[in-house]
Amino acid sequence: MSTALPLPVPPHDPERRAWLLATGAAGGVAALGTAVPLVSTLAPSERAKALGAAVEVDIGDLAPGSSKTVEWRGQPVWVMHRTAAMLAALQGQDAGLVDPLSRRSLQPAGATNPTRSLRPEIFVAVGICTHLGCSPTAVAAGGSHPGLPDDWSGGFFCPCHGSTFDGAGRVHRNKPAPTNLDVPPHHYASATRLVIGEDGGA
Ligand code: FES
Repeated sequence: MSTALPLPVPPHDPERRAWLLATGAAGGVAALGTAVPLVSTLAPSERAKALGAAVEVDIGDLAPGSSKTVEWRGQPVWVMHRTAAMLAALQGQDAGLVDPLSRRSLQPAGATNPTRSLRPEIFVAVGICTHLGCSPTAVAAGGSHPGLPDDWSGGFFCPCHGSTFDGAGRVHRNKPAPTNLDVPPHHYASATRLVIGEDGGA
């Protein structure tokens, strides 16, 4: 499994998590109008539009067990092709999880399920810890890593304060991260084209 997360991770800012909240866009417009009263300056720049644009990802070359990282809105977003064994490892873990059904975590409505995904095998998540914004590392089942239990069943480990997440980004109990990893809005344009940043068809 690839774990490369080459992108710099900015300090965690809870306001950045507002992109899944319906009020986010209206709030941004209001703030801009206050700071810059000239109507002619209100149109978003090409750079601003590019920063907020959806990102299309080719997953046709994503073999089971592998992953890739793309940038969306300045954040690293992981796209992981989970194997059948990785999916099986998600079962029977609820008692050890803070929010197993993701009722208090951020994800598209269609991904509010135990695998936290639109397609069970494809996991899409923002690679930023929900505690203080460090970048967790993917660790496969059985992988040894300081801070992980011997019976580790696979998932993600945050080296900053030891939060651990299962293979669906669900945080374990008694860890500092309060919620599961964020799953960004996304949909599939075709069998092999994933669009991150826009909800749409499944
Ligand atoms: S930033 Fe991840 S555990 Fe604190």
